[in-house]
Amino acid sequence: MRILVVGGAGYIGSHVVKELLKTGHDVRVFDNLSTGQEVNLFENIEFIKGDILDIPAIEKAMEGMDGVVHLAAKKAVGESMEKPDVYALNNLNGTINVLNAMVKNNVKYFVFSSTAAVYGMPSIEVLDEETPLNPINFYGFSKKMIEEVLSWYDRLKGIKFVALRYFNAVGYDGEGDVKGLEKNPQNLLPIVMETIFGVREKMTVFGSDYPTKDGTCERDYIHVSDLASAHQLAFQYLVRENQSQIMNLGTGVAHSVKDMIEMTEKVTGRQVKYEMGDRRAGDPAALMAFSKKANELLGWQPQHSSLENIIATTYRIYQKYF
Ligand code: UFG
Repeated sequence: MRILVVGGAGYIGSHVVKELLKTGHDVRVFDNLSTGQEVNLFENIEFIKGDILDIPAIEKAMEGMDGVVHLAAKKAVGESMEKPDVYALNNLNGTINVLNAMVKNNVKYFVFSSTAAVYGMPSIEVLDEETPLNPINFYGFSKKMIEEVLSWYDRLKGIKFVALRYFNAVGYDGEGDVKGLEKNPQNLLPIVMETIFGVREKMTVFGSDYPTKDGTCERDYIHVSDLASAHQLAFQYLVRENQSQIMNLGTGVAHSVKDMIEMTEKVTGRQVKYEMGDRRAGDPAALMAFSKKANELLGWQPQHSSLENIIATTYRIYQKYF
């Protein structure tokens, strides 16, 4: 297939591009390089620098495509609460521009980068796709809105989509083909790495009194290469079944913040300096995915998501930069 990857120079996008190339697709990347990086662009792709808010540009990029993966979005949870206008413009208007450009060019298949943040603070810990959606930040809300828009574009415009609700994306390509380190990372594992390499003097563990095994928050950490493989399986599914779906992508196993720190020390042989701090607003105690749907419908299974591999692949790219 000829696939347009919108946001294909970013952290997850570049891993998706690698997987699509590996499975024989032709790839065109559309990215404004605001967080994506040129160093992430693979040689045998076509690259168009452009912004999803530029309607003529996205319409032009859509010409001749069979399918779209859309990952271009603002994704910092805290920032989304301070700048909902920016998130509305990029994540809502921007995505609608992409969808309208698809309609205009008769492009039928859409794989959407959604998030576990659509669930908010659920009272249960293992979440399937039927768990009620109750986002507690504007970022999660923006993704939920688009999922709803998608079901209408399916009914009214015949766009068939798979929305993939990623849990905590971590790790780097095991073969070292993705070269760019994520810019200004806000998440736990990059912060642990920055602490090891002295970019930060120490890090803070947000909360030690949660009702979890060691008092720190637990999350479902999924290797980005496993997320990537789900995208190409989603296209196979769309072509085969011509049906829209929403699916969780996680491992079904949760690790605590302490687990992440301790395993990092074990894998790297280096000390992570940390202190215990207060809870961070909006953090649920534990989140875990039930990904049976992706397993049954796509034949998807995480293969790279052991904690050792997640940490080793992340450490390796940080060693190149620091
Ligand atoms: N944490 C710390 N110290 C830090 C940073 C994080 O203790 O300096 C803790 C957080 O409190 C949380 C865990 O590490 O318990 C993971 O935090 P992240 O910020 O890495 O990730 P979140 O679980 O908050 O959110 C991430 C993405 C969201 C996505 C969600 C899906 O950032 O976009 O996973 O589960 F929606």
